[in-house]
Amino acid sequence: MPTPDAHADLGARVDAAVTAALAAIDAASTTADLQAAKSAHNGQGSELASLNASLRDIAPADRKAAGQTIGAGRARVADAIAARQAELALVEEAAQLEAERVDVTALPRIRSRGGRHPLTMLMDEMSDVFVGMGWEVAEGPELEHEWYNFDALNVDPDHPARSESDTFYVAPADRHMVLRTQTSPVQVRTLLTRELPTYIVAPGRVYRTDDIDATHLPVFTQLEGLAVDKGITMANLRGTLEHLARAMFGEEAKIRLRPNYFPFTEPSAEMDVWHPGMRGGARWVEWGGCGMVNPNVLRAAGVDPDVYSGFAFGMGIERTLQFRYLLDDMRDMIEGDVRFTEQFGMVI
Ligand code: PHE
Repeated sequence: MPTPDAHADLGARVDAAVTAALAAIDAASTTADLQAAKSAHNGQGSELASLNASLRDIAPADRKAAGQTIGAGRARVADAIAARQAELALVEEAAQLEAERVDVTALPRIRSRGGRHPLTMLMDEMSDVFVGMGWEVAEGPELEHEWYNFDALNVDPDHPARSESDTFYVAPADRHMVLRTQTSPVQVRTLLTRELPTYIVAPGRVYRTDDIDATHLPVFTQLEGLAVDKGITMANLRGTLEHLARAMFGEEAKIRLRPNYFPFTEPSAEMDVWHPGMRGGARWVEWGGCGMVNPNVLRAAGVDPDVYSGFAFGMGIERTLQFRYLLDDMRDMIEGDVRFTEQFGMVI
């Protein structure tokens, strides 16, 4: 028969176990911690569980009181677990809501989709000036036959432009293929394939064996123009170029023609544009070449020069971009740095 001391001893052990359990429950800061505290202090193998198991060794007369002591202790622990569980559930839910919070006022993160290159945009814009006057846009191959690039354009076989120091020849040599050095071969292709009268612009890439510097690229872009009709004169050429200059550089822009020589035009002229906004004030800048289509070119393309006459012009699109935006260095146009492109707007 257990003495009252034995019961007091049991009570102290239960109290100690409950105190330890409550401390662990209190310290649990997550539901996982709490689950661990629960199995350590109230689960199998815990002090309270083994005290409970020892009930069977207690004399039947004392068993009820001992059972109540242990049961009351376990109930306190169970209540504390339930209460802490409810608290932690609230805290964890709040944390999750915070973590998943969406700031509906935040600015969207805009991913750049890139854009068209300023040269491409300018090429289209220049072509559009002509399309607006009823002209058509023509094209020719960049890998061109020597006949179109030189012979049909009245360029002598020993003209310096034909030398390998100016022109990229493409092997095998007996095929007479070159990377076109100008868009002028499109004049010949147009005259051979289109009905007369004809008014075309031909934008496109051309190749020369130039070294790269701030004002030269070995691969660049030209806009060719050709008008062949009855009664075309130099005045028509001038008016057309003036119109283009104003569309590109503003109403103040003027052009100036200086006598020059091109085998495929006669007379020929170098065309300058008076640029109203150049750094350090307005000035004349060399923009391209032009002239009246040489009768030999008309003849090579099967057009009767006694019936038809025409004018032609060609200018660099890189130069146009350079004058228009006062760009110091043409190399920026081919670097592929999106920060350069972005300055012209990312129109798609
Ligand atoms: N093809 C010439 C050049 O590249 C420009 C030009 C075109 C001149 C048409 C006259 C007529 O320099």
